[in-house]
Amino acid sequence: MNERALNNSIYQFNENSPCFSDFYQLLSKLAARDFGEHKKVLMVTSATEGEGKTTVASYLAITGTLSSSDYFVLIDGDLRKPQLHKRFGLSRDGGLADILLNKKRLTEVIHKTAFRNLHLITAGRYEDKPFQLLQLNETKELINHIRLYYKLILIDGPPIIPVSDALRLAEVVDGILMVVKAGKTPRTVIKRAIDVLTESGCPLVGVVLNDRNQVLPYYYQQRYYRYNYSPTNHD
Ligand SMILES: Nc1ncnc2c1ncn2[C@@H]1O[C@H](COP(=O)(O)OP(=O)(O)O)[C@@H](O)[C@H]1O
Ligand SMILES: [Mg+2]
Repeated sequence: MNERALNNSIYQFNENSPCFSDFYQLLSKLAARDFGEHKKVLMVTSATEGEGKTTVASYLAITGTLSSSDYFVLIDGDLRKPQLHKRFGLSRDGGLADILLNKKRLTEVIHKTAFRNLHLITAGRYEDKPFQLLQLNETKELINHIRLYYKLILIDGPPIIPVSDALRLAEVVDGILMVVKAGKTPRTVIKRAIDVLTESGCPLVGVVLNDRNQVLPYYYQQRYYRYNYSPTNHD
């Protein structure tokens, strides 16, 4: 994904946008791995913050709704630094945290967006520590409730390295898509993040290389990614 192409507001994104075909291909590759069919829940994460998790999750979901009549939902699982509501111009209130705290019902936190068939569950508000909030059973129950209604449930996850929230969520998703910002995160940190995920047992289904200057290919196998990752020099 290149910078010029993605720097615009999400509301300017459409079928003619330069990155549309990249995201469309990504969806197709995910479909080949059964996402959107039997597997429904994908968490987008990265080793550290600022690598493009929110960006990739948002455009992936929007591309899905623009290219089909299926329903998609985005969940802001990055409770410490929630961003999705800002991207979509919505209020943060009434979201994931409110459900987990039993303050709201599911129907009250599923927000419509300006994109047809794209729903959004914002982060909501809380006072507890996010890790405590993401109690396994409650989070699982929420996911299981909405599983039937959507083609794909995309969780904009927390980063892996600084906190353990991502691992909590990893226990309730069907797979993980990792975003790596080219030239930003040291290779050792990326490797550590992949090791942490591997230990969690949640399948890593793909890696998106988010490059500021050019569109780079997506690498789908952890093995391939690990041994063939070449750093870019132009960032
Ligand atoms: N490929 C890209 N091109 C241009 N800007 C990008 C790209 N990817 C991310 N950004 C910008 O970089 C910043 C961090 O991205 P974001 O998706 O919020 O990261 P994260 O969710 O991992 O913290 C945002 O301002 C976003 O708009
Ligand atoms: Mg984010």
